[in-house]
Amino acid sequence: MKKQLTKKANNASEKIEKLKAIKEEIINLKNSPLYDFRQKEGNLPVIGEGSHSASVMFIGEAPGANEAKQGRPFCGTAGKILDELLITAGFKREEVYVTNIVKDRPPGNRDPELAEIELYAPFLMRQINTIKPDFIITLGRFSGEYIMAQFNLKQAFTTIGKVHGTVFEGMAEYGKVKIIPMYHPASALYDRTNKEKLVKDFKKLKAYLQHK
Ligand code: URA
Repeated sequence: MKKQLTKKANNASEKIEKLKAIKEEIINLKNSPLYDFRQKEGNLPVIGEGSHSASVMFIGEAPGANEAKQGRPFCGTAGKILDELLITAGFKREEVYVTNIVKDRPPGNRDPELAEIELYAPFLMRQINTIKPDFIITLGRFSGEYIMAQFNLKQAFTTIGKVHGTVFEGMAEYGKVKIIPMYHPASALYDRTNKEKLVKDFKKLKAYLQHK
């Protein structure tokens, strides 16, 4: 028992160290095309937050204005919707891990560019391999496309409209991982049917987790 507890504690402190290293590297990522904008605006990079032993990890696109001011993912309008959806699925926010592919805010909330995704994505993959979630929920097209391709599921990601809510299985460094692409919560702000689809997918996720 003592041995087991020591192993758990060692794992936890190893995770903290790895996540700290990721954070430090991102803070000092001067070669990012978004670094100067971060400094000029007095913004913060948004690394991610939540449980280090989360079974479910949510991955969005990039921080918006509120997130970059606070250094926290999904703490603005889209975050309110995500919080509602988490309640729908029976999660407390602190039980899951929430992050983005791109860790700095793109100017004017434009879509992230490919070069930005490619620069920041290795940090995301390190976060995944540190936290080792059983489920990855991608929010929106950019994270859906990227993550599915990373797990050899590129062909399966046809359109978000077709694949949302579908459970795919990938192989991570640490073992099997289920990947479920979903619409981005912000899309619910301008399309009520997307909100309905998100609610349905989160309810499905809840049922899936209860019966796995
Ligand atoms: N949209 C995202 O994709 N991520 C955030 O953190 C906030 C809004």
